[in-house]
Amino acid sequence: MPAPIRVAVTGAAGQIAYSLLPRIARGDLFGADQPVILQLLEVPVEKPQQALRGVALELDDCAFPLLHGIVCTDSAEVAFADADWCLLVGAKPRGPGMERADLLKDNGKIFIGQGQAIDRVASAACRVVVVGNPCNTNCMIAAAQAKRLPRERFTAMTRLDQNRAATQIAKKAGVPLTAVSDLVIYGNHSPTMFSDFAHARINGRPLPDVITDSAWLQTTLQTTVGKRGAEIIAARGASSAASAANALIDHVRALSTPSSAVHSIAVHSPGHYGFAEGIWASVPVVTTAPGTYAVVPGITHDEFGRGRIKITNDELVGERDLVQDLLR
Ligand code: NAD
Ligand code: LMR
Repeated sequence: MPAPIRVAVTGAAGQIAYSLLPRIARGDLFGADQPVILQLLEVPVEKPQQALRGVALELDDCAFPLLHGIVCTDSAEVAFADADWCLLVGAKPRGPGMERADLLKDNGKIFIGQGQAIDRVASAACRVVVVGNPCNTNCMIAAAQAKRLPRERFTAMTRLDQNRAATQIAKKAGVPLTAVSDLVIYGNHSPTMFSDFAHARINGRPLPDVITDSAWLQTTLQTTVGKRGAEIIAARGASSAASAANALIDHVRALSTPSSAVHSIAVHSPGHYGFAEGIWASVPVVTTAPGTYAVVPGITHDEFGRGRIKITNDELVGERDLVQDLLR
């Protein structure tokens, strides 16, 4: 058996982690032959620490053969020590009536200390995925702290939006989900995100040749996906958890597995596709080597697509302006 992969997860006593950790421990991330060690971080407060102990007891009781160790801690340096993957889930979720950007003040500062600790103690090959909202800008904050790890190691999760859009499209077209490909989310994980239907395919055919209802594509699809998080909060009284954990599994698996398949990840922008230099924006990527992405070049957008990208870029630039003091 290969040496265990060390996976650090923050917010490990929270809702997303409760769905996520058993799946990592049973091999959903790295396959049925790859052992893992879970390094679990929670805030240094009695109740979440006690809940974390409970999560660890349950993981023990699952008797997962691939789970070669569990570390429970309130220390970022312990959680991230030698970690190969750092999954930054721990942050406050929004409540009804809030936008994700409203969380910036409370959550942004978490990512300063965690970015610094990761840079100090994680494995040289470490990859970091930010889920805690607003995830694009939190990822930028964490990456700004890194001196040793390159910023390309820091990505934020828009895979949930891609999965949401794929399901809506498959339902509208009356096809299985596997028929939908090349569907990419651009921009922010927020209602301004752009689900790029124009370059997606259904059974290999251009999507607009199959779904010809342009009002649905330009309005209903965009709004349904963009506001899905709020719809779930209104229905559950809590933000998405199982689907977020599932998307994080998809994100890490896609990023670990070299392939020509296109997927959506929020990555550092060098100024591509109309995004400002230095923000983290979701774009189409392929995985070129385990943990390494390349942005798919040369996709041209029509006026509608360019307009949508401008809106979501402007929002990301606005979020960056709000956290200037956290970027030093
Ligand atoms: P939750 O409140 O159930 O759990 C969050 C946990 O994080 C809590 O146990 C809390 O104690 C812990 N935490 C807070 N600050 C921490 C810190 N500094 N270090 C370690 N742990 C810390 O919330 P949840 O439902 O699991 O959601 C977590 C985050 O993920 C929220 O910000 C939510 O908005 C976000 N989210 C993002 C997406 C996405 O698609 N990017 C999807 C769903 C949820
Ligand atoms: C989601 O999209 O479900 C999450 O980002 C949670 C939220 O606040 O919407």
